[in-house]
Amino acid sequence: MINMHEKLYEINAVSYQIRIIKESDLESLLSVKNDVSVHRDRLCRQKEGKAVYLGAFINNCAIGYVLLSLDNKEDVMLDTNHEKCADMIDLLLIEPLRNYGVGSRLALSCEEVCREKGIPYLGLDVNPTDNSAAKRLYERLGYHAVGKVHLDGVYEYTDEQGNQMKYEDWCIDMIKRM
Ligand SMILES: CC(C)(COP(=O)(O)OP(=O)(O)OC[C@H]1O[C@@H](n2cnc3c(N)ncnc32)[C@H](O)[C@@H]1OP(=O)(O)O)[C@@H](O)C(=O)NCCC(=O)NCCS
Repeated sequence: MINMHEKLYEINAVSYQIRIIKESDLESLLSVKNDVSVHRDRLCRQKEGKAVYLGAFINNCAIGYVLLSLDNKEDVMLDTNHEKCADMIDLLLIEPLRNYGVGSRLALSCEEVCREKGIPYLGLDVNPTDNSAAKRLYERLGYHAVGKVHLDGVYEYTDEQGNQMKYEDWCIDMIKRM
């Protein structure tokens, strides 16, 4: 028997906005990633014209973001024939709103910015073994892998037993011509 307090309803056609992140979004960004200094640094780089920080928002509440670094992605220069390549960094969606196409839209928005700025290539780093879902997303959008697997970063974390652990993030570069 269905309990009247446990009925299932749907929220249809919830709209979201993709736009440039502003200083006043800082508080809201913390619910996507709780690291003020990361967001402050990115807003700073944006102010200096070195990056574009794009966010996805529902009613001005951040649900995801991506940093488009306008600095040249030097490690793919051989693959772009020395043409400039921007860098798509830290594409992230809050977990409950994954798989609705928002991540793809954020990536496409980065591409639009590159085209507006006349940047011929967009690249990124992705871990092909631990993050095959993200790699699939980029492939679907037309990115292809170049170069070799490289150590992109080492992150420290505490596991469930309280042990200090290290995670090595082995990534490949992917690029797409705009
Ligand atoms: C990777 C990440 C940003 C993708 O964001 P997302 O919003 O879930 O991405 P999308 O919804 O556009 O695409 C994911 C899948 O949903 C599917 N999808 C897109 N729109 C859909 C819709 N309306 N209904 C159902 N499925 C849909 C896509 O086809 C895609 O399927 P695939 O796995 O076969 O490629 C997100 O999973 C995330 O934040 N992961 C953790 C951080 C991370 O790994 N970032 C990448 C660093 S390189």
